[in-house]
Amino acid sequence: MVNEINPKKSYKDDQLKIIITQEEIEAKVLELGRRISEEYAGKELILVGVLRGSTYFIVDLSRKMHIPFALDFISISHYNDTSGPAGVVRITKDLELSITDKHVLIVEDIVDTGLSLGYLIRNLKTRNPASLKVCTMVNVEARRIVGVPVEYKGFDLPNIYVVGYGLDYKERYRNLQFIAEFDRS
Ligand code: IMP
Repeated sequence: MVNEINPKKSYKDDQLKIIITQEEIEAKVLELGRRISEEYAGKELILVGVLRGSTYFIVDLSRKMHIPFALDFISISHYNDTSGPAGVVRITKDLELSITDKHVLIVEDIVDTGLSLGYLIRNLKTRNPASLKVCTMVNVEARRIVGVPVEYKGFDLPNIYVVGYGLDYKERYRNLQFIAEFDRS
């Protein structure tokens, strides 16, 4: 049985407007999993999940892949943390695996301004991977500050704040199985 979280029961529904359904997400994850499997067949691939938002996506995506790969995670602090100066991103948990000479696919929940991803790409490139590409569930071109190459995209969205499928508002809503516009007012 499909596990449903009913936003009308669980949350103040006037703050959530579903824009991508669970079914649409599942179809897209299957499509991406197949495409990545074809394009990385025969290559030594490491999937790198960016904690914590990408966890739901990377688990689902990896289960739709039919090639061998290694899985690792990295965590970065965001530029909008209040703990440090604006614009600063740093690694708070590094990879366990060496990516030198390996094909690396960074798996993101959302690419928004591109600041975090831009930093991550610059950092990982210094480790000399055989290749370095990006897969994101959500892409928001309208808020981009830094140009970043995104090879695999789930959904292109306009300039709205979204939650669900790993994306949070103050650490809540990550477990929603759909993606919803969230009214922060
Ligand atoms: P960046 O702006 O591309 O560097 O994204 C930084 C991080 O901000 C993302 O990895 C998300 O965790 C978070 N973020 C950006 N936009 C949204 C959104 O619309 N909803 C939830 N989190 C977001």
